[in-house]
Amino acid sequence: MHKILITGGAGFIGSHLTRLFVTKYPDYNIVNIDKLTYAGNLENLKDIEDAPNYTFVRGDITDAGLLKELFDIHQFTAVLHCAAESHVDRSITDPLAFITTNVVGTATLLHTARQYWNGAYENKIFYHISTDEVYGSLGETGFFTEETAYDPRSPYSASKASSDHIVRAFYHTYHLPVKISNCSNNYGPFHFPEKLIPLCIHNIINNKPLPIYGKGENVRDWLYVEDHVRAIDVIFHTGKVGETYNIGGHNEWTNIALVKELCRQMDEKLGRDKGESEKLITYVKDRAGHDLRYAIDATKLKDQLGWLPSLQFEEGISKTIDWYLNNSEWLQHVTSGNYQHYYEQQYDKR
Ligand code: NAD
Ligand code: TYD
Repeated sequence: MHKILITGGAGFIGSHLTRLFVTKYPDYNIVNIDKLTYAGNLENLKDIEDAPNYTFVRGDITDAGLLKELFDIHQFTAVLHCAAESHVDRSITDPLAFITTNVVGTATLLHTARQYWNGAYENKIFYHISTDEVYGSLGETGFFTEETAYDPRSPYSASKASSDHIVRAFYHTYHLPVKISNCSNNYGPFHFPEKLIPLCIHNIINNKPLPIYGKGENVRDWLYVEDHVRAIDVIFHTGKVGETYNIGGHNEWTNIALVKELCRQMDEKLGRDKGESEKLITYVKDRAGHDLRYAIDATKLKDQLGWLPSLQFEEGISKTIDWYLNNSEWLQHVTSGNYQHYYEQQYDKR
């Protein structure tokens, strides 16, 4: 029986994680703190908002006073820390927001949990959700393992790397019972359409250009979001305190091959002529400091905790496209207002 503080539960991964824990563990009490930035959306949690074991609090993880109050009221036994500024392109234009939430926010949470638990660490868990981008960029071969040295190159990945280091420092210095996982790129329902896959699905629907940075040869390892949160569940319950686990999809795609696969499937689903959506592909100026390749070696997670991805990519992508086609209202809501402004800033000059 846990009392869990989930941070960033109204975001993409956080909403899947919150749904999984609220529905799978009715005995757990779950409090979701989320600032509701442009990326946070309570529509992502509509189906569980009235669940008796779920509470939402709008708040900022840098607010030490609020965190202390929440720990005092709810007596948390665990933290699942998902809140972050998460988009690399935004980190290039506004790095300080990333330092504030990802570094200062994580440190504030750690400090609050340590003070509240006050050395009584039995059955306590501080779980930090992180990214494979902390390891930097691979060449054409090789994989990131848990032993790979950190080499972050964007303000986003540097802020996540800093937060991982601070989490480990609290483990080594104060014995705070931490767990960390570093996951590859996720995709699936509720993904904000600033990231490659949902942005392209949205643009294909609307017959808008599909912006490919550089030559489209950068490689990412894609994992269906429900497989990611299933891995978090396994690590949370059976992973070892103080350890790091890499989570990956064994599923590498160049950006251009991925976008062509999206176009192929969407032509079929939308009843368009074969090859029609591919005509929307437009090569644009490359991202500054664009990491060439990410690929995860998830052997430790498979061998020690028995986790494997469940979905093949073509199937996961098909499910994802269907979700966006069936949830046009969600897409319309998140792409109105501020999104238009972001889109013009980001792409009109490329
Ligand atoms: P997201 O941007 O969709 O969601 C982030 C959530 O955090 C939003 O709901 C936002 O409102 C909230 N938030 C931001 N700043 C906050 C603050 N100061 N206080 C409280 N809430 C705040 O992000 P995501 O893609 O769901 O990523 C979630 C976590 O998983 C992040 O830590 C990210 O680094 C990590 N991760 C993401 C991916 C991926 O492919 N998306 C892969 C590996 C790891
Ligand atoms: P993204 O979804 O932003 O994830 P990340 O940068 O964290 O891996 O981008 C995935 C890849 O797609 C990355 O190599 C950058 C590229 N990309 C484009 O080519 N065009 C786009 O419009 C976006 C958003 C990304």
